[in-house]
Amino acid sequence: MCGIIGFTGKKAARDIILNGLERLEYRGYDSAGVALLEDGKISVKKRTGKVAELKGLCQSEENTATCGIGHTRWATHGGVTDANAHPHRCGQVVLIHNGIIENYRELVREYSLQDKLVSETDSEVVAALLDTFYEGDPIKAIKKTIKALSGAFALCIMFQDIPGKIFAIRNVSPMIATSCADGSIIASDLTAVVEFSKEYFVVPEYHILTLTEDGIDVMDMKGNEVKPEILSVNWDVASAQKGGYPFFMLKEIYEQPDAIRNTVSPRVSNGLPDFTTDGIDDEVFKNCKRVVVVACGTAMHAGMVGKHVIEDKLRVPVQVEIASEFRYKNPIIDEETLTIVLSQSGETIDTLEALKLAKANGSKVISIVNVKGSTIARESDYVLYTHAGPEIAVASTKAYTVQVAAMYLIACKMGLVKGILEESEARQFMTKLINAPNIIEETLENANNIKRVANHIKMAPDAFFIGRGLDYTMSLEAALKLKEISYVHAEAYAAGELKHGTIALITENVPVIALATQEDVYGKVISNIREVKARGAYVVLVSMDDEVNDPAICDKHIKLPKLDKEFTAFANAVVLQLIAYYTSEAKGLDVDKPRNLAKSVTVE
Ligand code: F6R
Repeated sequence: MCGIIGFTGKKAARDIILNGLERLEYRGYDSAGVALLEDGKISVKKRTGKVAELKGLCQSEENTATCGIGHTRWATHGGVTDANAHPHRCGQVVLIHNGIIENYRELVREYSLQDKLVSETDSEVVAALLDTFYEGDPIKAIKKTIKALSGAFALCIMFQDIPGKIFAIRNVSPMIATSCADGSIIASDLTAVVEFSKEYFVVPEYHILTLTEDGIDVMDMKGNEVKPEILSVNWDVASAQKGGYPFFMLKEIYEQPDAIRNTVSPRVSNGLPDFTTDGIDDEVFKNCKRVVVVACGTAMHAGMVGKHVIEDKLRVPVQVEIASEFRYKNPIIDEETLTIVLSQSGETIDTLEALKLAKANGSKVISIVNVKGSTIARESDYVLYTHAGPEIAVASTKAYTVQVAAMYLIACKMGLVKGILEESEARQFMTKLINAPNIIEETLENANNIKRVANHIKMAPDAFFIGRGLDYTMSLEAALKLKEISYVHAEAYAAGELKHGTIALITENVPVIALATQEDVYGKVISNIREVKARGAYVVLVSMDDEVNDPAICDKHIKLPKLDKEFTAFANAVVLQLIAYYTSEAKGLDVDKPRNLAKSVTVE
């Protein structure tokens, strides 16, 4: 949460920073600010609202400074006000911060900082502390300050009397950096730097960076120079742009076929799953007696889909846990448990802490991560990278379906290694998985039909998603997506459970989106649909039937391609994503930046 960027170099910094902030805006968009250092002075401009508004504020200013920092905020400590926006200035110091300083109140008391503060933020306390310790030696002041902090932080700092330099340090909160012909750049993630360089490094924790126009020095807390590992980006700047789509979310929905192809194809050899290049030993699967999946939100829902396949096909027990709950449990985990962690960003703090707990309890951890070099990837025993490319819309779409595909790859591999699946069965399964992108392409052809459903849902205060088995799991994700971007209150229910309470909420015209794609329970779901239809619901049936024209069953039918039961997940996902997308669009909302949210959840 929060996007931070710093640039120092041979070019004017202002527009580089503002454009970078626009790319980072999905990390938070409550307020934004920029600080520019020139001729021994730092000018700070900041305000509530989106980066576009900050751009307006900065336009009249001179654009000659070549060193600056910028921030886009997701509020944690202190409301959404101009004063709480970053950068924060105190004396000679100006800084931006992503993370949470847990002991900020104690610091204010211990160092009598109250008189230096004008905001309600924890971040400003760091600026005040730095200013207290600063006597002309920035490294000394930074070291002293960092020793006093507890919590997560990524900090970029400028000192008014030190021209052309940005200092940076982090603990937990992400930050990457690169230098190129134009200068040095540091940011929360790659989207902001990829146009400058295809090479970057992850800022090592508790190392002090000094950025100048000529390059970046990295030193540990003892003062030793460190050469961080250089990584390269496998996507280009066009991937982080809308490419003619009105919103990133729609673009990302349409990118799903390629994202799945890129994730699955490199891991198929002779028609079977192959993790050789990922370095995942067969032993990991052979030795595991049970699986625990930990993740948050949409990523957790992808894990739940994986649970269906692993339990159904392999009869290996799988427990899916919400990371923020799991991390405070005394989990039943041992050496025979395989923990699978899912995270698009690879930075979600609850997921990261859950991972550490699983490892501490002796479990091997495989993570399914989209962002290369992210903290979760680095902390895991094994990583299965998904190749979805950058996901910019706050609502996750393509990252979800590639996570599902990765879970299916793992299920198939585990089945083979354990001798539960015959080679021929595994080959058949893989043929279907390889076909998943085509399923999605076929489903996307139905987009206009799906769009019409949105016109009904946009009027409703509430909506329900129902289904059984895998369809119920898909409903959970559908309800999350609809709530998240269209603000329609939505709930998912196991279709058979409605009559135990929830059916009381079904009145005239309430939208019920009913998934009936699981052959073994199809008849049962249709009975449950009749029950809600009889009470006046507006029913949208999603099924593989050729046509359903019975008004006692549904008002609208969305037809899916004919699929085996576990592969309906890919078609269902697209339908449900499009319903949420078009509802949000029809309500005139900012689909990519829903209120109160941020893409990467790096606070608890
Ligand atoms: C919802 C959504 C979130 C994320 C969750 C985990 O559309 O995107 O629920 O899935 O915050 O994020 P990652 O996958 O980055 O760990």
